[in-house]
Amino acid sequence: MSALLTPIAIERPAEIRFGAGLASAVGAFARARGCTRPLVVCDAFNAGRVGLLGLPGEAAVFGTVRPEPDIPNLDALLTMAEATKPDLVIGFGGGSAMDLAKLAAVLPGSGQFIHDVVGPEKVQGRSLALAQVPTTSGTGSEAGTRALVTDPATQNKLAVQSRHMLADLAVVDPDLTLTVPSAVTAATGVDALAHCAEAYTSRKAHPLIDLYALEGIRLVGRFLARAVRDGADREARAGLSLASLYGGFCLGPVNTTAGHAVAYPLGTRHHIPHGLACALIFPHTLAFNAPVVPEKTAGILQALGLGSAGGETAVRAAARDWCAALGIEMRLSRHGVPEADLEAMATEAHAIRRLLDNNPRDISQAEILALYRAAH
Ligand SMILES: NC(=O)c1ccc[n+]([C@@H]2O[C@H](COP(=O)([O-])OP(=O)(O)OC[C@H]3O[C@@H](n4cnc5c(N)ncnc54)[C@H](O)[C@@H]3O)[C@@H](O)[C@H]2O)c1
Ligand SMILES: [Fe+2]
Repeated sequence: MSALLTPIAIERPAEIRFGAGLASAVGAFARARGCTRPLVVCDAFNAGRVGLLGLPGEAAVFGTVRPEPDIPNLDALLTMAEATKPDLVIGFGGGSAMDLAKLAAVLPGSGQFIHDVVGPEKVQGRSLALAQVPTTSGTGSEAGTRALVTDPATQNKLAVQSRHMLADLAVVDPDLTLTVPSAVTAATGVDALAHCAEAYTSRKAHPLIDLYALEGIRLVGRFLARAVRDGADREARAGLSLASLYGGFCLGPVNTTAGHAVAYPLGTRHHIPHGLACALIFPHTLAFNAPVVPEKTAGILQALGLGSAGGETAVRAAARDWCAALGIEMRLSRHGVPEADLEAMATEAHAIRRLLDNNPRDISQAEILALYRAAH
């Protein structure tokens, strides 16, 4: 059936503001809403510049969000939220801070705990305001309904999805990303690219989303190398912030596929940051899928400015060289992943059905293992 005949729904933050220097729009929003007890959820870097948000009164700041946050990190935040009883929660940081902010906006006082809300639409509701302010350009979490938290007991990423976690306001101020170190810029940029490319080639791909996916890929192709080379390039930063937002639009109704599923064990088992994990895997899943979606794969490579590589091997080489040229070390072994762990990782990745079932080409556990070996 033509994808045009497939129903689709898009849910967005009620208001999205995009533009350099807009961070203080959060303060204006708080005043307009009459919010007096804001809680800012951020990492240590952003904790040092909460003043940029222009919030009224004395904001409570949870400034210890860790990269790839886990349940203990979430619990510490929830304890603080229960004590401070905020009327506005603000995620201020990368995906790690924004994801925890979503949960801090819906869990305290609800009687629901993290394990009660894993999966789609289990959250009962939200009674306070939520604003999101990204400071990396990668996850697009500001635009979406999902939050990811690692469960140390099972080493799984728990995915909570709820329309109640959609922000009332997302403020995308590209100038906030000027301080992102070049290695993080490169890795998070490939995360944005992976969101777009995986959604574009997903079994659930839809023309309504393809538009954002392709444009997101083009923006990454045009601006990522520039921002990695010169972090102060404001136009390149703005282009990547837009690409990240478009990637976020792709996640909602379509979402990622094998690239993210195969990347997850690198983060949960080996603490490789999410963007980097996606970058290490991206060339391999793009190539693996190429035989069943040749035109879309060619479209992705063209949008990246890579011409149109032919078969699986050529696609893998083109994408891997492109990532390596961004300064990303592309071998798993160089990131401390032991060969002996690859089998367990393949078992874990293969179990992530919510993503793999939408991959355009069926991928077996043995094929995932072969892919890890090729990347090792
Ligand atoms: N909700 C979603 O839809 C979604 C999508 C993709 C990824 N994620 C999740 O997001 C998390 C990763 O987020 P991320 O890649 O944005 O990284 P991050 O939030 O973990 O931040 C990476 C590092 O950059 C630092 N940092 C952030 N902004 C900075 C700035 N402006 N200047 C200098 N340093 C800065 C942080 O302190 C941190 O050390 C993972 O947990 C991942 O699973 C969520
Ligand atoms: Fe991602």
